Amino acid sequence: MKIFIAGASGGIGRYLTKELDTKENRLYLTYNKSKEKIIKTKYALSTDVFKVDFTNNKEVEAAFSSIESLDLLINVMGHVENNMISRMTEEEWDNVIASNLKTYFLSCKYGIEKIVENGHIINFSSILGSTGMIGATNYVAAKGGIESFTKSFALECLHRRRVFVNAIALGYFKIGLGLKLSKKIEDSVKNRIPLNEFGDPEEIIKVVKYVTSSKYLVGQIIHINGGLRI
Ligand SMILES: NC(=O)c1ccc[n+]([C@@H]2O[C@H](COP(=O)([O-])OP(=O)(O)OC[C@H]3O[C@@H](n4cnc5c(N)ncnc54)[C@H](OP(=O)(O)O)[C@@H]3O)[C@@H](O)[C@H]2O)c1
Repeated sequence: MKIFIAGASGGIGRYLTKELDTKENRLYLTYNKSKEKIIKTKYALSTDVFKVDFTNNKEVEAAFSSIESLDLLINVMGHVENNMISRMTEEEWDNVIASNLKTYFLSCKYGIEKIVENGHIINFSSILGSTGMIGATNYVAAKGGIESFTKSFALECLHRRRVFVNAIALGYFKIGLGLKLSKKIEDSVKNRIPLNEFGDPEEIIKVVKYVTSSKYLVGQIIHINGGLRI
């Protein structure tokens, strides 16, 4: 498979790179600020690495223009700048909406041109996109936006062709952003999760494989969260 991971320098992007680094796959990996975090692959047929700011139209267009075709595009960019709305600056709002929502728009806009018939796009969202969270309204709005975007774009992608677009909405995982919480917040979140623990990243790749094996799953937001939201 030809697989593009947008946000391969993040915790989840790195994990997905390791899992998808097999001799059947050609990988296209992106970073924005953290080049050093891109995983050096061992097994993939080929690996191309691009520096792309996914809020920048021209950079996104250029990255996809060098690729012939893709079976799977995974969008896993994300960024948080928390504050209460009354104290949130316009900059905090704009940065978070741009890096969590515009990034997905531009990646899908140029990525869709390269996806083969029966190919897939997976957008990563968060449980917070449907539950909300005090102090993270900008992030919540962006993640809610990704979910609505995914549903509508999934219909567009079946209009003249067959490309399957779905989203995976994560609860709390022992990886990436999930490792940046204080001990106090981590403990209080764990108490609210019916399984009483953060998710193992293994659960994420299982769902990615399930989604890409399906040819009938359309515009779904698949929640993996240990029962935190049902
Ligand atoms: N980890 C969790 O427990 C968890 C829970 C719920 C949802 N999620 C969601 O899962 C996704 C990945 O999260 P993560 O934990 O892997 O986060 P992370 O470790 O902070 O990684 C974020 C990634 O997004 C990239 N990025 C941010 N802004 C970008 C931009 N403008 N252009 C290009 N790339 C950009 C970063 O690139 P650079 O570092 O190179 O700049 C990095 O690769 C996010 O959508 C997040 O909201 C994660």
